[in-house]
Amino acid sequence: MNILHIDCSPRPVSHSRRLSAEIMEKVLALAPAANIVRRDLGAEPLPHLTSDYAAALASPAALMAAASSNAMDLSEALIREVEAADIIVLGTPMNNFTIPSVLKAWIDQLLRVGRTIMPTPQGKVGMLRDRPVLIGISSGGVFAGEKANQPDFLTPYLSAAFACVGLMALQFLPVQATAFLNETQLASARQAALATLDLTMIGEDR
Ligand SMILES: Cc1cc2nc3c(=O)[nH]c(=O)nc-3n(C[C@H](O)[C@H](O)[C@H](O)COP(=O)(O)O)c2cc1C
Repeated sequence: MNILHIDCSPRPVSHSRRLSAEIMEKVLALAPAANIVRRDLGAEPLPHLTSDYAAALASPAALMAAASSNAMDLSEALIREVEAADIIVLGTPMNNFTIPSVLKAWIDQLLRVGRTIMPTPQGKVGMLRDRPVLIGISSGGVFAGEKANQPDFLTPYLSAAFACVGLMALQFLPVQATAFLNETQLASARQAALATLDLTMIGEDR
């Protein structure tokens, strides 16, 4: 089994990193021999889009013309990491109601017409095999549930972006109000989030 473990916080010690590490522990308890690929977008952010890549995505003709160039090398490498993964574990903070820009930069390389997305008259159809994406979210305030007091553009956005390439089996594990919780409360919040994790998909094929 291959696990792609992604973190997005710029902070080396952080709530979302802790959460994604604990999700990894749960997965590895069931699949101890799993191979782990790390993509630390917080520590090593991807560059923003190059003009070559943006130009290639501008039209079908430009896409064809760019096929023999290296404009899509980074995108290709990142897509292959996802294709090789049986499970993706993602830790992300909420930044200004949505995902951090480092994660958006990764999504901009992953969602590519003709490679991970097939355009059809009915809309975009994902070309990747579905696989579980376990998403630990930390937020300073509250964005979900009865006490939510801010918009949530994070979970609907990630749902739409991943669905676009064929990844439907998302699980969101939020730890909210990190700005207001002490260590004990944070540990309980992480435990409550982890209790919702469904790992029944990890079968004999480890
Ligand atoms: C630039 C920035 C924007 C943020 N925007 C929000 C926000 O919109 N909503 C929220 O609840 N918390 C927000 N926060 C707080 C973080 O989500 C919170 O501190 C989170 O636990 C950080 O995760 P980390 O420790 O993994 O970096 C923001 C923090 C930063 C640095």
